[in-house]
Amino acid sequence: MSDFATSPSTAAVPLDVAAGMLAQHPAVAAAHAVGDRLFAQPAAATLPADRATREVAHAAGLAALGAVDWTAVADRVAALDAAAHAAMGATLARAGLFVTAGTAHSVAEVLTALAVAPRHRRVARRWLRELARVGVLTAVGEASYRAERPCADGDLDARLARLGAATAGLGHGEQMGQFLARCARSLPQLLRDEVTVQQLMFPDGRTDTADSTYRENLASRYVNGVAAAALRHVAAWHTRDAPLRVLEIGAGVGGTSAVVIPALADSTVPVDYQFTDVSPFFLNIGREMFGDRPWVRYGRCDVNSDLTAQGYPDGSVDVVLAANVLHNAVDTGALMAALYRLLTPGGWLVFIDTSREHPQIMTSTEFLMSPPAADPDARFTDGRAERDQIFPTVTQWRAAAIAAGFDSIWALPDREHPVAALGQYVHAARTRLRPDPAGLRRYLAGRLPDPPQITVAPGLPDPR
Ligand SMILES: C[S@@+](CC[C@H](N)C(=O)[O-])C[C@H]1O[C@@H](n2cnc3c(N)ncnc32)[C@H](O)[C@@H]1O
Repeated sequence: MSDFATSPSTAAVPLDVAAGMLAQHPAVAAAHAVGDRLFAQPAAATLPADRATREVAHAAGLAALGAVDWTAVADRVAALDAAAHAAMGATLARAGLFVTAGTAHSVAEVLTALAVAPRHRRVARRWLRELARVGVLTAVGEASYRAERPCADGDLDARLARLGAATAGLGHGEQMGQFLARCARSLPQLLRDEVTVQQLMFPDGRTDTADSTYRENLASRYVNGVAAAALRHVAAWHTRDAPLRVLEIGAGVGGTSAVVIPALADSTVPVDYQFTDVSPFFLNIGREMFGDRPWVRYGRCDVNSDLTAQGYPDGSVDVVLAANVLHNAVDTGALMAALYRLLTPGGWLVFIDTSREHPQIMTSTEFLMSPPAADPDARFTDGRAERDQIFPTVTQWRAAAIAAGFDSIWALPDREHPVAALGQYVHAARTRLRPDPAGLRRYLAGRLPDPPQITVAPGLPDPR
């Protein structure tokens, strides 16, 4: 390098050597010369800290759980699944459907026999797929199913009576099991849109079912612990001379915020935290919960509308946090692209979502996710539409993040870990560093006289 520093002219510095030096820059993955120019490819955002973030976060998630009997957890999850399958089967049997093995019905016959409200047709179709997945039914052709085992309402009451114990054992409290049982008994009315899940969830206007869903159960403790640790780690590595700007989307009743915000309170960097939701109702809940923290702000944000137009311009956020909301995006590909633009270079997307099919959700809160009655056939516009899917799988989220340009993508827990039975995952991804050509030229100027022009390009042209 000192040879170049004393070189009398740039002609003495071969461009290949300058390219080699440029490739040493941490934000550059590769560089080479084409003609009289240097081309630089941005590096992945991966820093040693990224790998550590995942490990630290997983350990924090497990620590939030304490000692757990995972065999008992798996049994309780299986009991909840089986009760939901039994409730679907009983609802079909009471309408005279699939009552003997070998009987076949078309999807259209099922929808008619159950008098399913148009906006809930997706739920009924998902039940048929789910019962086929577990071997109660078999798909016949495109739009019919045959009973492998007869559907009946035989032992449903006994199964529902045990739900309280199962949900209590998963940390949801007895009242969650009672809510699921109320839904299971009301499935015909729910399908016909004669009763709503809200009425069953808040029978006396009490909100403890919702609170316990998002806060106290094992799944939430793990994922909120992971998310909080990930954000703390990101804050610890935040080197820009400005507050860490966090945007929480779909903050709702603040189940995740209640863990993350205190975890960020003693960060070494100042934090600017925006607590947002599509519904202004939840912003007041946020103000009540975090009003004593002046660094928390409140605002509306809808993931299905243009973010810039809502006051969230490109490159204005260091971390996006979202818990159990991103599956509401009409198109996960478009969402990921929008979040990529919103984030700063090297910024983080950390989100929690359900990433396995939950039969107990299909027989309860999934009715809340049906389209409005005025537009009953509204659908997702991504790969979920074809299979009436609601929650993208870990693989689908990963593909959408990669397609948007994200990097350092990870999800927790590992599929093999027993905590995966709970079905909640934390996903994280980083935007690329996007080095700017002027900055790279200044970097070379410190090492070479009169450095060449630099072009930053995601793919490099062929060297000549
Ligand atoms: C299942 S709750 C999750 C609540 C919260 N994140 C928590 O951990 O307690 C989903 C939240 O997403 C919000 N939401 C639904 N659709 C949305 C959208 N299109 N954009 C932003 N938020 C949305 C809802 O209002 C609700 O508060």
